[in-house]
Amino acid sequence: MSQKRGRAAKHWGSRFGIIMAVAGSAIGLGNFLRFPGQVVLNGGGAFMIPYFISLLLLGIPLMWIEWTVGRYGGGFGHSTAPGIFHTLWEKNRFIKYFGLIGIFGPLVIFIYYCYIESWTLAYSFFSITGKLAAIKEQEAMCSFLSGFQGIEQNDFFATLYPAYLFFVITFFINISVLYHGIKKGIERFCKIAMPILLLFALFIMIRVFMLGTPNPSKPDLNVINGLGFLWNPNFSVLKDAQVWITAAGQIFFTLSVGIGVILTYSSYLSKGDDVALSGLSAVSTNEFSEVILGGSIVITASFVFFGAAGAREIAEEGIFNLGFVTMPLILNKMALSQFFGFMWFFLLFLAGVTSSISLSEPAIAFLEDEFNITRKRAVTLFGVVTFLLCHVSIFFIKYGVIDELDFWGGTFCLVLFGTVEAILFAWVFGIDKAWDEIHHGADLRIPRIYKFVIKFITPAFLLIILSFWFIQKGLPVLMMRDVAASNQPYILFTRLLLLGIFFGLGIMLKIVWRKRQEG
Ligand code: ALA
Repeated sequence: MSQKRGRAAKHWGSRFGIIMAVAGSAIGLGNFLRFPGQVVLNGGGAFMIPYFISLLLLGIPLMWIEWTVGRYGGGFGHSTAPGIFHTLWEKNRFIKYFGLIGIFGPLVIFIYYCYIESWTLAYSFFSITGKLAAIKEQEAMCSFLSGFQGIEQNDFFATLYPAYLFFVITFFINISVLYHGIKKGIERFCKIAMPILLLFALFIMIRVFMLGTPNPSKPDLNVINGLGFLWNPNFSVLKDAQVWITAAGQIFFTLSVGIGVILTYSSYLSKGDDVALSGLSAVSTNEFSEVILGGSIVITASFVFFGAAGAREIAEEGIFNLGFVTMPLILNKMALSQFFGFMWFFLLFLAGVTSSISLSEPAIAFLEDEFNITRKRAVTLFGVVTFLLCHVSIFFIKYGVIDELDFWGGTFCLVLFGTVEAILFAWVFGIDKAWDEIHHGADLRIPRIYKFVIKFITPAFLLIILSFWFIQKGLPVLMMRDVAASNQPYILFTRLLLLGIFFGLGIMLKIVWRKRQEG
């Protein structure tokens, strides 16, 4: 090995702390906003079959792979994918460049995620001050959202100034948590934020369950049928490749696997720390909050007020509309609506921050590890660059730029990175060595069937998804066939920007690696 073990000086303070931090990374806007939207758009219970199959065959194995590979790479002083991939396949000169996706992907997600997260802070404020409670109609709630986002000027908002202000506050909160480091910043914040957000979600879920049949003239629209919409299976959809791709994409996004962040978080573990039980605990906490809490709150509430078809129409307008338009309208119908509205949006805000700080960590760790600069400097540099980059999301939202960033950073890169990572681990590093490494210090013996799954099923499943995507969507996406002509210049600009960021990171890596070899 060319690197000496033990260069990574950063460590978590406790096992509870790391589980809360990884669960915090996983539990985010994806659980409470993206998941309900996907379920509603993809036929309710029909979506849940590919979803759970993807969880078992992709999500859980990749979580174990990332915890193990991260801990392994951390032992050689690497906290990010380029260096970690290099330790797995030292003979290959190019694999470290592939690992750059594990820094690039989370950076791209951060550029829009942090902005969306700031809307939840703003909406917490609008809830508690009664601004949202005064809006009774769906159309008006939609106008409020688009006015706030600067998509249109209307009676609610004449400028983008309020959105910008909340963005700056949110960005500053993220940077200050990161500035305080792993133990005193990220771990401490997650240990406080996670229990609060879970408690708030539990509280709102119970309140939603108490809705019963809010409209006696429509007795079918009740809580039991709402839950049935989520849980009754429908096997007909299994023939549709798109639903499988969407379900797999949701599993990646929600668990934060294939992004690069779990690798970085687990690189701060010690060699003897357990990864098997901790990885599974993080998955379970995430799934509880996604399927039980996120699903029960948004899907059930939307169903009892709007029915399956109505909820679908709303989600078609925008995947986050169920959260930002429907939920405030529903909460407005309850007693203490200002209070419940605040709880809803503030829990989203906490979930968002615990995820966005994890999205920042790979880039910061890369600067610290490979350029040997202090944490404070690395955070400052990261802060300045991403602050500027976020402006693309703020000012070009109406041209579809956030969707474009989400596609490349939040979907495509994840599946590609996950595929390479699974193949590297099971085939290059070798499944026998990999299996031993997972079980080093483990508090749980993983069922042996997973040795087979990790070696054959997970990589094959991922390769099939990538091939299907390429055949069905690759060319139309690359040629911008579904993009309105007026938006094309903005999308092209975004793509060039992304290419620039990727090549910039590539040049940085080439420079440090050359220095490392000379040294
Ligand atoms: N895993 C994070 C989420 O679900 C990114 O929002």
